[in-house]
Amino acid sequence: MIRSVVRGFGTSLPKRVLTNRELESMVDTSDEWIVQRTGIRQRYIAGEGETTASLGEAAAREALDRAGLTAADIDLIIVATSTPDNTFPATAVNIQNRLGMHHGYAFDLQAVCSGFVYGMATADAYIRGGLARRVLVIGAETFSRILDWTDRTTCVLFGDGAGAIVLEAQEGEGTVADRGVLTAQLRSDGAHLEKLYVDGGPSSTGTVGHLRMEGREVFKHAVGMITDVIVAAFDATGLSIEDLDWLVPHQANRRIIDGSAKKLGIPLEKVVVTVDLHGNTSAASIPLALASAAADGRIKKGDLVLLEAMGGGFTWGAVLLRW
Ligand code: ACO
Repeated sequence: MIRSVVRGFGTSLPKRVLTNRELESMVDTSDEWIVQRTGIRQRYIAGEGETTASLGEAAAREALDRAGLTAADIDLIIVATSTPDNTFPATAVNIQNRLGMHHGYAFDLQAVCSGFVYGMATADAYIRGGLARRVLVIGAETFSRILDWTDRTTCVLFGDGAGAIVLEAQEGEGTVADRGVLTAQLRSDGAHLEKLYVDGGPSSTGTVGHLRMEGREVFKHAVGMITDVIVAAFDATGLSIEDLDWLVPHQANRRIIDGSAKKLGIPLEKVVVTVDLHGNTSAASIPLALASAAADGRIKKGDLVLLEAMGGGFTWGAVLLRW
């Protein structure tokens, strides 16, 4: 049986760090409020010349280096982003060109904060369906460019960055002992589209727009939706929470992460947290967190790793994989 195995990972962050203290001089907020409500202490903000494509390219190059591969070995690039460089063409095609790759194919995928989970699931389906052997899955965002910097209820929450992985087709036994993606569970429900959205777009206003969020409403739904897909992932594989080595959640809010882990009985020592350093980087948050735990040796070959996210739409989903 063909499995989609992670062969390399990489990250890229903008040069500039924006601390909570600096935000105090921009809007009516405080370091204490932000840390207590979200766990965020700082975030990275893209400067001149830094875009979703440039950050995504840098993350992709690092992932290729770690995998011992070059762009010539890749068949497909999927970029999960809600902040593309241009309305079209896809940021994936832009990154393809930056990598000097003129074969294969590339496309963007839009599922807001669930984008990386959707991207992994899509890449896995393409690999198992024989449409690609090696896929670069990139989560890249510059949310700073769609924030209303006068709105304290949203501007303190988000940051910029990118993370990438190389997924490769490898032969498995068809058991849960195999390395690679074991199951992906995806959900969406557009009934919630006005709770977290951008108030502009090419076809509606002709503008880029700004992020708008009913934070309390999002919070209310988050833990239940996340735990549902996690339970579905374990049901689909016959594995249990006790088998899990690492939970790598979307990094939106420390309270949502802790609440979900607690509800599922996952000890906090098994949860990878980077929201304090990066803020919410939407589709980039999972690969940034995943890479930090893999680079420092916490996640080891053979470990059972669970990725989960929930975001605008609402969209939500989980991927269970063996590293
Ligand atoms: N600094 C200081 N005070 C603030 C700030 C701020 N930055 N923002 C809001 N407040 C105030 C509010 O105005 C309110 O004041 P009031 O009581 O006088 O009206 C008070 O703080 C409490 O506001 P709440 O919204 O009830 O605060 P809450 O505890 O719910 O925390 C938060 C807000 C952090 C946004 C929380 O609701 C949350 O994390 N929600 C989920 C958000 C999320 O995860 N979104 C990402 C999903 S991923 C994606 O798809 C992009």
